[in-house]
Amino acid sequence: ITLEPGARLVVATQNPGKARELAAILENRFELVTAGDLCLAEPEETETTFVGNALLKARAAARASGLAAIADDSGLSVAALDGAPGVYSARWAGPEKDFALAMRKVEERLEAAESDDRAAWFTCALAVAWPDEGPMLVVEGRVDGTLTFPGRGTRGFGYDPIFVPEGHAQTFGEMDPAAKDAMSHRARAFEKLKAALF
Ligand code: IMP
Repeated sequence: ITLEPGARLVVATQNPGKARELAAILENRFELVTAGDLCLAEPEETETTFVGNALLKARAAARASGLAAIADDSGLSVAALDGAPGVYSARWAGPEKDFALAMRKVEERLEAAESDDRAAWFTCALAVAWPDEGPMLVVEGRVDGTLTFPGRGTRGFGYDPIFVPEGHAQTFGEMDPAAKDAMSHRARAFEKLKAALF
């Protein structure tokens, strides 16, 4: 599986920030266009795993554009909640993308589960699909940690305030963003992707 330097690559996101982040990580090796630039419809995330959703999004974008496409799917999994919210991490925040609400929901579910287990992990799956419908490439990165309530810190996004990565005292919400970026599930997935692609 190869991707020639300079190849056009569709980033299956409507988010220009994600496309810029990808361009930097891929060392400006490819010419990136976003699904938004090409007005591609976003498929429904119907799979039950991060890998499944990343593959589904990459395949849909490659098919619709006729170009190679890269997609990601990520989220928080909580051990005592059997891996929830998992692929539903964004959906737990509701249409208003209210992560205070989503974090409250995690706390309430943990109370209801009557478990002292606070183990949790972030996962990021990255998938590349080619327009010829052949094999795809998929990798997964993970960072383990524990949850803490109430959340702390105003940096980062999403569930960052309640997540303390293993071996650290600060939450992702308190940490220097560069420190988070160096150890995150996304960074680990990108390392694997680069090892597979370059
Ligand atoms: P996606 O954009 O569909 O992959 O949704 C990812 C969801 O997981 C979003 O709701 C994020 O808030 C959450 N998430 C993913 N990565 C992180 C992270 O690094 N910190 C906090 N939340 C994250």
